[in-house]
Amino acid sequence: MEHDEILSWLRETDEARLAELWRRADATRQLHVGGEVHLRGLVELSNHCVRLCAYCGLRAPNTSVTRYRMTADEVLRCARLAESLGYGTVVLQSGEDPGITRDGMADLIRRIKAETPLAVTLSLGERSEDELACWRAAGADRYLLRFETSNRALYDRLHPPRPGTVSDRIALLRRIRALGYEVGSGVMIGIPGQTYEDLAADIAMFARLDLDMIGVGPYLPHPETPLGAAQRPADDDQVPNSELMTYKVIALARLVCPRANIPSTTALATLNPRDGRELGLVRGANVVMPNLTPPKYRVHYEIYPNKVCLRETAEGCSSCLHARIIALGRTVGTGRGDSPNRRGRREPVGS
Ligand code: 5AD
Ligand code: FES
Repeated sequence: MEHDEILSWLRETDEARLAELWRRADATRQLHVGGEVHLRGLVELSNHCVRLCAYCGLRAPNTSVTRYRMTADEVLRCARLAESLGYGTVVLQSGEDPGITRDGMADLIRRIKAETPLAVTLSLGERSEDELACWRAAGADRYLLRFETSNRALYDRLHPPRPGTVSDRIALLRRIRALGYEVGSGVMIGIPGQTYEDLAADIAMFARLDLDMIGVGPYLPHPETPLGAAQRPADDDQVPNSELMTYKVIALARLVCPRANIPSTTALATLNPRDGRELGLVRGANVVMPNLTPPKYRVHYEIYPNKVCLRETAEGCSSCLHARIIALGRTVGTGRGDSPNRRGRREPVGS
């Protein structure tokens, strides 16, 4: 799909034409990844962060956050819970936390891989080549790192680098791919300063990076951040951080990367708790990521406010999601739910 076609879909307001976009995205999803919806258990293992991302509630200077870091045993218990709930993957996510060390993390990955059949996805921020290689060798299967925006000037405004370093997530994603990980990325929708042109370029970038996983969600202002406290630009070029725009991006992501695993995200469910997740799943998505973080920690992983399911148990979310998936006429995925994109192209480490 060409840039101009992506752009015109992003600007489309006609409901009949949008219904055609949803239909195409849903048919493409069915054809390339089928009717299974994969459940990935999310463990938010630490909310410490050294970075200053202008939109994120976990940014280092936010002193109103109670910081925590889970122990390896606590994370392992979550992984066993994921297995017992029938999930094929555990996603280990954190802020950019130097307290998560190369060797400590490698040990944890090895223990999860030895004691469960789970695929392990890491989402630990911008880490060194040495760390990424070590974790891959320890058995990690996938890595998630959103590039957030392909507009370099906007990226730089939102992401001050650590002193003495350059932050280039696109380059890092290519290195992650070269290490043999399945690669996931994505963007926030409607971040202040993001134009329609920018978002169309982001979607074209998904295809250029040949992503295995694409996560997108609406930007949700956090009051304890510089961006959340600022006034939104009200000009015609500014992308709205709306539910509708999120569906458009999910659908277009499916059309440009037909075989990718695409979650219907928590941020979307936060905008529409009633049926946002379901609408994502019928407009291109094929994954959901139930939260397995122990509730006592979960409340402190406040990237944005008012997240759904904050006080729900792991079992509660599991049965809720099963029911929602069945009600859509879809099935709950079994097995690891690896990317059909890579299957046969690459042998996992150790096999
Ligand atoms: N609103 C929505 N999404 C956010 N993220 C971070 N802060 C916010 C926010 N305020 C997203 C980023 C990050 C992912 C883990 O969460 O895209 O990559
Ligand atoms: Fe958590 Fe429905 S997914 S309660």
